[in-house]
Amino acid sequence: MSKIAVIGSNMVDLITYIDRMPAQGETLEAPGFALGCGGKGANQAVAAAKLGAQVLMVSKVGDDMFADNTLANFQRFGIDTRYVQRVPGVSSGVAPIFVSPDSHNSILIVKGANAHLSPADIDAAAADLRECTLIVLQLEINLDTVYYAIEFAHRHGIAVLLNPAPALAGLSGTHLAQLDFLIPNESELALISGQVVDSPEAAQRAARTLVANGIRHVIVTLGEHGALYVGEEGEFRVPGRKVVARDTTGAGDAFIGCFIQHWSRDGAIRQAMEQAVAYSACSVMALGTQTSYPDRQAFARFQQQQ
Ligand code: RIB
Repeated sequence: MSKIAVIGSNMVDLITYIDRMPAQGETLEAPGFALGCGGKGANQAVAAAKLGAQVLMVSKVGDDMFADNTLANFQRFGIDTRYVQRVPGVSSGVAPIFVSPDSHNSILIVKGANAHLSPADIDAAAADLRECTLIVLQLEINLDTVYYAIEFAHRHGIAVLLNPAPALAGLSGTHLAQLDFLIPNESELALISGQVVDSPEAAQRAARTLVANGIRHVIVTLGEHGALYVGEEGEFRVPGRKVVARDTTGAGDAFIGCFIQHWSRDGAIRQAMEQAVAYSACSVMALGTQTSYPDRQAFARFQQQQ
């Protein structure tokens, strides 16, 4: 079975379900709270593993009570944690998250140990990374580490995917051009392309400029409207699925986890996107981040009911 490497973040999600955000100086009661495993890298790794992928995680945890729990969580899903190292004297990454009654979220991240993942950690994992067919990256670790990983993948002929989240302007064009896959949402695409992205048509135009600059496949996630593809295989849209959303936190990560699991199995991009749209729709029906990701059986049941 082909192996996927996720080089990226892990966080502890502190999820507060709110009626509204408090004003400055105001104390407000909120109806609910949940503590969970999160972080964009970890979420994508766990979603892929829950669906049956073999995943190698390269990440950093802190020197606190969260670290053991994060490691145990990866191991529970069969993720290879040999390159998830502890950083002495530093906190684990944490993410205070606020979810509103209409299911939308606002997220703060404190990188903590994630900021210590360095190019040297990629060198340390190099022999195992070379055995992988796909390297998956996000932007919750330092940019020089992301760039080093892209160069590494390019040099060794390993497919490389960047989910440019959280959104960041000014990414290096040279490194973007080395990507096999870029999977942004609309606001991330707007920042990267420098274009206004206020409709699927505008997203398609912006994606075309990135493909013209060298990225092989650009997949734009459109939330409830599905996803669109621009790249070597042409241009097409995958429609969204209608569901009742309770918590959209981590839905983008669910899309990527499912996409990488399918694509690395058979290389079929459109089918992997169709599965990923369905998987991410299924995830928003449940509360939490990784806790909302169905395993293979639950996802099959969801697909039958649709
Ligand atoms: O994409 C959702 C994730 O963003 C959360 O799990 C949180 O940890 C932040 O990284």
